[in-house]
Amino acid sequence: MAAERTPEFFAGKDVKIGIIGCGYVGLPLALRFADVGQRVTGFDTDQEKIHKLNAGQSYIQHISADKIKQHVQGKRFDATTDFTRLREMDAVLICVPTPLDERREPDLSYVEKTAQSIAPNLQRNQLIVLESTTYPGTTEELVLPILEKGGLKCPLARGAGSENVATDFYLAFSPEREDPGNKQFGLAQIPKVVGGINPASGRAAVALYAQIVSKVVPVSSTRAAEMVKLLENIFRCVNIALVNELKQLSLRMDLDIWEVIDSAATKPFGFMPFYPGPGLGGHCIPVDPYYLSWKAREYDFATRFIELAGEINTAMPYNVVDALVGALNSHEKSVKGSKILLLGVAYKKDVDDLRESPSLKLLELLTARGALLDYNDPYFPALHKMRHYDFSNMKSVELSPERLASYDCVLIATDHSSYDYDAIVRKSKLVVDTRNATRHVKQGREKVVHC
Ligand SMILES: NC(=O)c1ccc[n+]([C@@H]2O[C@H](COP(=O)([O-])OP(=O)(O)OC[C@H]3O[C@@H](n4cnc5c(N)ncnc54)[C@H](O)[C@@H]3O)[C@@H](O)[C@H]2O)c1
Repeated sequence: MAAERTPEFFAGKDVKIGIIGCGYVGLPLALRFADVGQRVTGFDTDQEKIHKLNAGQSYIQHISADKIKQHVQGKRFDATTDFTRLREMDAVLICVPTPLDERREPDLSYVEKTAQSIAPNLQRNQLIVLESTTYPGTTEELVLPILEKGGLKCPLARGAGSENVATDFYLAFSPEREDPGNKQFGLAQIPKVVGGINPASGRAAVALYAQIVSKVVPVSSTRAAEMVKLLENIFRCVNIALVNELKQLSLRMDLDIWEVIDSAATKPFGFMPFYPGPGLGGHCIPVDPYYLSWKAREYDFATRFIELAGEINTAMPYNVVDALVGALNSHEKSVKGSKILLLGVAYKKDVDDLRESPSLKLLELLTARGALLDYNDPYFPALHKMRHYDFSNMKSVELSPERLASYDCVLIATDHSSYDYDAIVRKSKLVVDTRNATRHVKQGREKVVHC
């Protein structure tokens, strides 16, 4: 079997695929390969997740348990913590976390550990692809040397004359563009960028991904592919910072920034709308740009746009608190001792993910100012201890009309679609809206403060 694994082999119908890291990225990817008929094994260090997957259960809100069950029963998908089973795989895709550490520097320990767990199991002509978001050079400089320790080689080769360079295994990088909760663009509709360590590696990865996405975009190297993902996310981060800053100015100038953005968006070319909010959230946009600023330092290069965007976006929760203090003040109340209900702790609407959510920062800032806080979020019945925050004593309160009326202020931090904004405004004494969620509310608009 191993000798038959030419790059073209990966376009075939019987490719055994291992996915390391069964989270928001890895699990949908695994199910997509199972959908097209491949046999997939999920590898994870979290025993509880493995147990749930094999029992046909889901732990991610937008991923259906039925789909998992269907593939487990059809023997297209199983999950394990036994990494020696990586030997049975033809292709291994790495989808583990790449967070920042306490000093806000790249924490590549998960990628490193994963490479170390693949190394002793690496097989000739196996395809390994890193999907975790990271700085340009990670696949070449970190993953490749670990994998090569066992003796198999994957020579770095690109450009003229590299086409026929022989390789013992294939190694590539392909960034994940999954957007959890996006109903318009699922995995299959999003083109996939792929860069190989050498041309054969690139061809093998292109052949594999062509099975699950409508378009594969090959690039010249793993470094280029790594940079593509960072460009995409830095583009978002910088543009969000821009509208966040313009929102602050618009508030001062008594302009409605959302009206301005929506009107600008009618221009059919050269403009793309971004919307302001209470701050950045999620696993990607607040984190990924710093992977590049860190790497840039090695080249004596300061990434000023990234730093400035970071500064503006980080200030947003503080601006929200200032606005809320002002709104309470106009009701002759101080924030200290006021009863405040925060709506939405998830980092964006309609997802069950609170990583880096600005709502957590808001809870922290308002608690420190002596506010009496409750929260509601249909996706989080209770909060647990996290890396930077501990709100483990908080539980989502019910949104009854009486309850809404009992708060001095309701703060809309995340605009979940399931909220009845008419009822929220009607019953509340004061609403601070960070997302323009109340734009269609007719009655009681005078109670809403935008910020
Ligand atoms: N969530 C997104 O929307 C998104 C989008 C694009 C890219 N990404 C990138 O994809 C990568 C994965 O993100 P995610 O959101 O899926 O993370 P996640 O935390 O949801 O999932 C990661 C999984 O990896 C497992 N894991 C950790 N260490 C492991 C190890 N050594 N071996 C095996 N499994 C291990 C964890 O238990 C977890 O199940 C990150 O680099 C992220 O930046 C995420």
